[in-house]
Amino acid sequence: MKHHQTIFIADFGSQFTKLISRAVRRCNVYCQIVPHQKLLETIATQECRAVILSGSPDSVNDDSQNHIITTLIEKKIPILGICYGFQLIVKALKGKVALTQKREFGEAHIEILHPSILYDNIWQVGGAYPTWMSHSDHVIDLPEGFICLARTQSIDNCIVSHPDKHIYGLQFHPEVTHTPQGITLIDNFLKKIANCKGDWNMKSYKSEGIEKISQQIGDGYAICAISGGVDSTVAAVMTHEAIGDRLHCLLIDTGLMRHNECSQVLSLYRQKLNISIECIDAKEHFFNALKDVTDPEQKRKIIGRCFIEIFENYALNCSTHKASYLVQGTLYPDVIESMALGGKKNVTIKSHHNVGGLPERLKMSLVEPLRELFKDEVRNLGQELDIPQEFLKRHPFPGPGLGIRIPGAITQEKCNILRAADAIFIDEIKKNALYDEIWQAFVVLLPVKSVGVMGDGRSYEYACTLRAVNSHDGMTAEVYPFSATFLKHTATRIINEVKGINRVLYDYTTKPPGTIEWE
Ligand code: XMP
Repeated sequence: MKHHQTIFIADFGSQFTKLISRAVRRCNVYCQIVPHQKLLETIATQECRAVILSGSPDSVNDDSQNHIITTLIEKKIPILGICYGFQLIVKALKGKVALTQKREFGEAHIEILHPSILYDNIWQVGGAYPTWMSHSDHVIDLPEGFICLARTQSIDNCIVSHPDKHIYGLQFHPEVTHTPQGITLIDNFLKKIANCKGDWNMKSYKSEGIEKISQQIGDGYAICAISGGVDSTVAAVMTHEAIGDRLHCLLIDTGLMRHNECSQVLSLYRQKLNISIECIDAKEHFFNALKDVTDPEQKRKIIGRCFIEIFENYALNCSTHKASYLVQGTLYPDVIESMALGGKKNVTIKSHHNVGGLPERLKMSLVEPLRELFKDEVRNLGQELDIPQEFLKRHPFPGPGLGIRIPGAITQEKCNILRAADAIFIDEIKKNALYDEIWQAFVVLLPVKSVGVMGDGRSYEYACTLRAVNSHDGMTAEVYPFSATFLKHTATRIINEVKGINRVLYDYTTKPPGTIEWE
């Protein structure tokens, strides 16, 4: 693939590192996150326009990282240090960092003391501007050659620079939305200080990506497991552009799909995208394997295993199958999550399922055209590839499907009930023109029955809950504030139209502390 100007983000374990990389990408600059331990070896072999040092939950309290700073300066690489990253620069260059008396957390207004190329189009000298801080430490003595550009009422050195060496340090977090001009600040650093052209966009990614796939697959054949989600479809369309009908797609009907999902996906592929696709009916296989299983992690593992079994069976027994390449819609967040980053290891909240393990077992090579992209970039790429909008705008749907929306044991009957309720909820959302305003909406069927009265009779049926959230990337989520009229109407429709449900709740849990899915 054509070489792009690259920024490296050294990760020291901040929860915001991914947001820094999102911000850089939004400025049309390509970036990669690397664990801080790997930064120097990475830039020894790759061209690097600049380095951004992330924050960290830790304090800078020894000299073990000093060599990172001195090496970057020796190489004349522009540096932007954020919070801990900034304090690291100061410590390495013999300035002083101390515990703040009054801890700054949340919004803090900074006062600009001197002009700087870093903010000349957004902030003026004498003005006070909102930023977002989260720290206990701050810089009390600057190293030689550095100047303090901004302060708050309680601390100095909120923005500092060594303009000759192209080093900048920020006490606040420009990457979070609570710093309103933060992205412009990062853009200035990238374009005006690191001299990046902004050569990263989905148009060039598309043509370069197609070229790369053509080279990788040559005159071979590839197969792609389609989930009905956006990622696998964009990966498949991109591969199809590269190798045409030598790509064959497989849709596994797990029985855990939404209302009409299989037929919609099949008609999209056959009629609109012209890609060869086959649907394997594996409902029995999945339901048998999931019989009486109630533990969420076990369900996920079983569903993942079933996918592999079905796929493997297809690959080994289908006489027309001759593919030696497997296309997968792996995204950059999956790549980041699977590498050991600078911080402490995350606990597994949920094991997200994919078809991992398959390529080795089947002796296939992986083709992963989206490995470098975030979810919203995938949607933009999908647009470049002319995939219909209504498909690209679909809400995310988890790989294990309805299997993780039915707490307790899963049965075909429960899936049918859930599908019907979910279809009504989505129908109402669409009718009220709310679909594009909501990040994800769905129904969860609860393992609880309650008594009701229907007509003249008693009912004893399942309860379900509606769930709708807004989110940027699924990492945090806010509850969508429906009107009471909407909720009342939707609940009434579900109770009247879905046999098996007689009570509807609305889930008011944010993430954190909840997760978006129930299992
Ligand atoms: P949670 O429930 O972890 O979900 O807050 C965050 C986002 O990820 C989706 N999700 C999954 N997607 N395989 C997927 O492809 C999975 O196993 C999986 N689990 C959750 C979820 O729908 C939400 O968008």
